[in-house]
Amino acid sequence: MKKTVLVSGGAGFIGSHVTVELIEAGYDVVVADNFSNCDTTCFEGVKKITGREDIPLVKMDFCDAAAVDKLFDGYPIDAVIHFAAYKAVGESVAKPVMYYKNNLQSFLNVLEAAEKHGGCNVLFSSSATVYGEPDELPVTEKSPRQPATSPYGNTKQICEDILSDTVKASSGAIKGIALRYFNPIGAHPSALIGELPRGVPNNLVPFITQTAIGKRECLSIFGNDYPTPDGTCQRDYIDIVDLAKAHVYAVTRMVEGKMKKDYEIFNIGTGRPVSVLELVNAFEKVNGIKLNYKFAPRREGDVTAIWADPTLANEEMGWKAGRSVEETLAAAWAWERHLAGK
Ligand code: UD1
Repeated sequence: MKKTVLVSGGAGFIGSHVTVELIEAGYDVVVADNFSNCDTTCFEGVKKITGREDIPLVKMDFCDAAAVDKLFDGYPIDAVIHFAAYKAVGESVAKPVMYYKNNLQSFLNVLEAAEKHGGCNVLFSSSATVYGEPDELPVTEKSPRQPATSPYGNTKQICEDILSDTVKASSGAIKGIALRYFNPIGAHPSALIGELPRGVPNNLVPFITQTAIGKRECLSIFGNDYPTPDGTCQRDYIDIVDLAKAHVYAVTRMVEGKMKKDYEIFNIGTGRPVSVLELVNAFEKVNGIKLNYKFAPRREGDVTAIWADPTLANEEMGWKAGRSVEETLAAAWAWERHLAGK
């Protein structure tokens, strides 16, 4: 029998790519979103890519406990992937109450509904931000978490702990996986779904593509005096479709009872450090564009370098990142042009 996966925040950037991969892998998906940080563009794109007009879409807020409970009443949910959260680091520093309330309450409501309905498989979308400025590179899942440097990062740590405690107390009824994403970038090769930042993008790749299309004048590279080979920060940029596929592996591992422990953590990255300058150069080369950029002071809160040791996800889940940075940057550019109607 087909298994059903609830995707909270399923109309957003990561959620829409995950929905496509789940459907292509044979899962039934229920998408739920409050559209606080996206419109229906990506959901419409998902329908086009999959050729499925019948994907259930529930417009709801996960902070509304009764609505979450009703969702669990209405669908035979085998697993839930929880994306519904705020994600802007700077905004979280300015509005901590809003971040803690939204990110914690929505997840607590999911877990409460799961408990009430006899258990569930819960996949939490975590972040490499939990490692802070690491002492050793690459980071493994055993690398220590560092004190969070923003309320956003803190909500990721707290939600991981909430999930771990809830799994422990549930006597096997609730199983959990936290996926710690490194830097998800790119877009679906169809160019029908991708990142749709509101206002000025905080993240690097949307800023690059918006500069290239002429929406922004100039990219500021934040800092070129870091102790790295070219002086700019290094990250582990992971293709969004590769990242989405990791969710299919994780959900399958849960619903097929293949977990080694009831709560597991996996790094989702490539294992390949790429500097800001290298990324900019790769974008220019693969797309044949000269990008307007300048060096600017460091951005507060940025870590010098972080990349994953993805061995555990490779060996335990059988998942591996496959796409090159060039393919990913070509897809990001195709998406930006699609948005501009070019
Ligand atoms: C941040 C979050 C991370 C989150 C990710 C995706 C932290 C510390 N980081 O990662 O948790 O998962 O966003 O939302 O919580 N850069 C520029 N110019 C720009 C923008 C960025 O030079 O205009 C540089 C940054 O200094 C950084 C790199 O590009 O070195 C990547 O930045 P960004 O895309 O914002 O991601 P992170 O800060 O790594």
